Amino acid sequence: MWEYTDKVKDHFFNPHNVGEIEDPDGVGEVGSLACGDALKLTFKLDKNGKIKDAKFKTFGCASAIATSSVLTEMIKGLTLDEAAKITNRDIADYLGGLPEQKMHCSVMGREALEAAIENYRGGGKKKHELEGNVVCTCFGVTDKEIERVIRENDLTTVEQVTNYCKAGGGCGGCKGEIEKIIENIQGERAGHILETSPRWAGRLTNIQKIQMIQQTINEQIRPALRAHSGDIELIDVEGNKVIVAFRGMCAQCKLTEFTMKDVVEAKLREFVSDELFVEEDRDSAQQPHNHRG
Ligand code: FES
Repeated sequence: MWEYTDKVKDHFFNPHNVGEIEDPDGVGEVGSLACGDALKLTFKLDKNGKIKDAKFKTFGCASAIATSSVLTEMIKGLTLDEAAKITNRDIADYLGGLPEQKMHCSVMGREALEAAIENYRGGGKKKHELEGNVVCTCFGVTDKEIERVIRENDLTTVEQVTNYCKAGGGCGGCKGEIEKIIENIQGERAGHILETSPRWAGRLTNIQKIQMIQQTINEQIRPALRAHSGDIELIDVEGNKVIVAFRGMCAQCKLTEFTMKDVVEAKLREFVSDELFVEEDRDSAQQPHNHRG
């Protein structure tokens, strides 16, 4: 049994605005019975361009009914520009939260709203079209939609993506592709964090931390060593221990201890985290072409 907030239960047992508006200004239909959830949202505007009425019909679970019901309440009185800014997270927050496995219902609500606005702006003719390339054929979810739920909800695992948009929840054949999309976005995030706000490692995932360490080595440390015909390679990261190997002239230099502490460690502490410490991988240094892994 799912843990639902009182607000979810209230909107499930007493849904508001059920039905379909006659002669609506905008109609949005998303999902399909084959996928287990479907939602049709209709709205009518007043003479000032604000949503004066909204109704929904849905096929789905308690969360689908509650999110649709609450969405119709949330958008009443808004202009279309204002309504278009509503995210799935806003809908879930308005309900006091949803079980993680039911977050796809909030995404379906946001999609139906967008489809209805699009329908109105297209003069009632434009049908909602999927943007991007379909990654999950079981549920008809595109790469653009997957990217969007990852970005808007800070998702980091395939399982979370499945909870938010169902992609990956059928045959599982698209999981590798979803994994790649997550990795690309995490890479972008790590780069962005490094550019704008160094020393955030305590709040990063391991993957992000390693990416930041590698980026700092590439941009802040390697150029200085190369200027002296040396080089450095990141071998491993174990918690806050960063294991590196020196190459070229640096591998034979008597001052590597100094380089390691005063250059490598100092830069990594400055740009990634002041908890990091560096150790040299002596085995690897003696066998420069025989890397681990
Ligand atoms: S293709 Fe995505 S679950 Fe089957």
